[in-house]
Amino acid sequence: MKGDPKVVAGLNEYLSFELTGHRQYLLHAGMCRHWGWQRLAGIQDAYSAEETQHAARIITRILMLGGSPAPRELRTIAGAPTVPEQLALDRELVAAAIVHLRAAVADCEQARDYASRALLREMVDDEERHLHWLDTETALIGKVGLPNYLQAQLG
Ligand SMILES: [Fe+2]
Ligand SMILES: [Fe+2]
Repeated sequence: MKGDPKVVAGLNEYLSFELTGHRQYLLHAGMCRHWGWQRLAGIQDAYSAEETQHAARIITRILMLGGSPAPRELRTIAGAPTVPEQLALDRELVAAAIVHLRAAVADCEQARDYASRALLREMVDDEERHLHWLDTETALIGKVGLPNYLQAQLG
């Protein structure tokens, strides 16, 4: 099956976000665990795993369309030194991924590639949920203060 080149390019760009996110959240999980923030480490691990699953599905779709998976490096992965900075760095990446996904969904629609559209539409759901979680945690830090927030991450 031959896919639309613009659709394949859009899938590849999203693949770049997935693999960047996978590594960034994995690093943040490791740092949180090292600091003793077990709850946060567990959640970051789960987001890292989610991006791996997303990436696997995107790779399968690209290959099915006759394309080559070719992710590019979006940024050098360096873990942010504090929890609020980690949340801000993650938010930046997820927000950019959502902007890209919305454009890619429109490209799929135009190319009448409804299966790729459905796949990316599902990814929008997951990333919006991810963004909401980041915003909730950041708002919590603002409400209860960082020391209280971090104390709740111990368990
Ligand atoms: Fe994702
Ligand atoms: Fe995500």
